[in-house]
Amino acid sequence: MSNVCEVHHPLIAHHLTILRDQATRPALFRDCVRRLSTLLAVSATGDLSLNDRSVTTPIQPTGGSALAQRIGIVPILRAGLGMVDPLLDLLPDAEIWHLGMYRDEATAQPVEYYSKLPPGNPCDVGFVIDPMLATGGSILSAIEALHRWGCQDVRVLSLIAARPGIERLQSAFPQVKLFVAAIDPELNTDNFIVPGLGDAGDRIFNT
Ligand code: PRP
Repeated sequence: MSNVCEVHHPLIAHHLTILRDQATRPALFRDCVRRLSTLLAVSATGDLSLNDRSVTTPIQPTGGSALAQRIGIVPILRAGLGMVDPLLDLLPDAEIWHLGMYRDEATAQPVEYYSKLPPGNPCDVGFVIDPMLATGGSILSAIEALHRWGCQDVRVLSLIAARPGIERLQSAFPQVKLFVAAIDPELNTDNFIVPGLGDAGDRIFNT
């Protein structure tokens, strides 16, 4: 699993446990999604390119740095919306490109219902965000959309990913880096992650 990074940190372990707890109400659930997304984003942005940038402090001029690449944040609706703000806090100049996708309950196949990616001028790095990677169908479909756009450096941030979905992602796109807070072992017969956290979209939006 060379391009899979399961980020280990005491704060991740703490907030992930609250996230999994069925007693956690939506307001706290959203807070935990934000905190975990920030912690994952630090790892996922660790190799972004920099240009030199000089500034003048109140004391004297000094050398510094500025992010060099055009960054796209690509939330998969709905649940990915819960991860947008923490990434945007860290990457305030990023573009947001929404992808509307839901998983058909009978077939578990992703159904796309919104995409406004333009025909050209792709961003340099695309961060696909979705709290859950179950069968991997939705993430794969999002990666295909970004590749069609021309974005070659695609990275995925998911809070919880199931091993079967990770294996599918790795086999289809071995070069795509995946950053996760937890890898869960399996899916149940309804293709829900076990132990997982239930339905992230429903828990974020209280539906
Ligand atoms: C969930 C989740 C992912 C997808 C994961 O979304 O947020 O997008 O399912 O499943 P997969 O890896 O098997 O494709 P859902 O379809 O419930 O839509 P929602 O975010 O609108 O609730």
